[in-house]
Amino acid sequence: MGHVDDPRGFTDISAYHSRMADQDSRAGTRYATPAIIDYVNSTHVPHDAGLARAFAVPEGVPAIQVGPSDGRTLHLLVKLVGATKIVEVGTLVGYSAIHMARAMRAGGTLWTIEFEQKHADLARANFAAAGLSNIEVLVGAGRDVLPTLSTKGPFDVVFIDADKISYDFYGQWAIENLRRGGLVIGDNAYLFGELVDDSDRARAMRGFHELVAKHCDSVCVPTPDGLVVGIKR
Ligand code: DHB
Ligand code: MG
Repeated sequence: MGHVDDPRGFTDISAYHSRMADQDSRAGTRYATPAIIDYVNSTHVPHDAGLARAFAVPEGVPAIQVGPSDGRTLHLLVKLVGATKIVEVGTLVGYSAIHMARAMRAGGTLWTIEFEQKHADLARANFAAAGLSNIEVLVGAGRDVLPTLSTKGPFDVVFIDADKISYDFYGQWAIENLRRGGLVIGDNAYLFGELVDDSDRARAMRGFHELVAKHCDSVCVPTPDGLVVGIKR
């Protein structure tokens, strides 16, 4: 049994490894308590007035926006690929779009598609309040609006966060309209715990996973909801 000179005070290698608890975390155990989530969000993702306004969805709008750390992850990914052309499917009231639009290079455009007119109106007001003029909100179903956007491509990033039954359609459109090296990103990729169930939307979500895996270097990042990220080959 070897000894480890570890500042945390372990002198026995097996005690050291047992405290790493990797078997649990690999199986899905999460160490993020609400207090830890608050701490890391306030440290890495402080909300200015623009983000705070878009995060606080009003009465009557479902609070299904991405979390602050997910939004920040989108921001960093957009920055890493130097995006100037982004498509988002599922605006809600614009929280994720603000994160992404602020990471775009100068002169870029983010087209964001929202099914509900009321949400689209709120999003437009949130973008104006955040001082952003590089976002276009398109109202309608993703299946109808995406084909009208193809001529604006190829795109650097496609972020899918809308009706789960259509993820395979949205994923196919993304693969066809991304540049090589562009990112396809999908929220809720664990499908609220139903990903491997026998249902139409689980089959659609698995179709999305498999399509991305086939055409991209990809991963499902283990965020609370699962976030698929693929780099198009
Ligand atoms: C739902 C949709 C989302 O995109 C999400 O992140 C959480 C919930 C929903 O439709 O219930
Ligand atoms: Mg979502």
